[in-house]
Amino acid sequence: AGSGKFFVGGNWKCNGTKDTISKLVSDLNSAKLEADVDVVVAPPFVYIDQVKNTLTDRIEISAQNSWVGKGGAFTGEISVEQLKDIGCKWVILGHSERRHVIGEVDQFIGKKAAYALTEGLGVIACIGEKLEEREAGKTFDVCFQQLKAFADAVPSWENVVIAYEPVWAIGTGKVASPAQAQEVHAAVRDWLKKNISAEVASKTRIIYGGSVNGGNSAELAKQEDIDGFLVGGASLKGPEFATIINSVT
Ligand code: G3P
Repeated sequence: AGSGKFFVGGNWKCNGTKDTISKLVSDLNSAKLEADVDVVVAPPFVYIDQVKNTLTDRIEISAQNSWVGKGGAFTGEISVEQLKDIGCKWVILGHSERRHVIGEVDQFIGKKAAYALTEGLGVIACIGEKLEEREAGKTFDVCFQQLKAFADAVPSWENVVIAYEPVWAIGTGKVASPAQAQEVHAAVRDWLKKNISAEVASKTRIIYGGSVNGGNSAELAKQEDIDGFLVGGASLKGPEFATIINSVT
């Protein structure tokens, strides 16, 4: 871990029911969490209100997506204003599932980030290469292009956390090695230094996502440029998520 306060997010994706979420919330409420870590969970939209009303204030709430502008006639979308109204502090944008399953593109994601930040939400900005891109030696190119789309759009980096999530590591059980993750995190920080500023490079948290679990988080957390995690599957288990949070070094 390097810059800023360690940051751990739990992305629950499209999982859960009222009952399983109530169990998860009560496990999180009774977990002992290191004080020096920012902790955020991202429930599915329909359960945000339930979580907000039952989860300890120690943990902040994120949405998994938001509409690109002010609400209105946009069937099926949820606006930033609505997210703030129910107590969200963050939104995850550019997640690989939205890029590659749903088809969101860089420019659209950048606009969403800009709008959310302007309206006062923090943004967890996701980037990451696919397996064939890594194998073709394009990891940095892909990550920098996605990063540039955020950089071109956002008004400030103050409330942005960058999540590096290699697509081949997401939900596959194939976690990036500490060295693989560190290499990209260091390159991202260097990109920020060259293209934004030394201050943004040193202050922006760069977190890792992709098959993080209670058994591998401690080694990853030791890496200089890994400032936290974005956790999928393992964040659905309260005690294991607590172990990951507490792997801060
Ligand atoms: O956003 C978190 C994520 O995509 C990682 O998922 O299940 O591999 O931890 P998972």
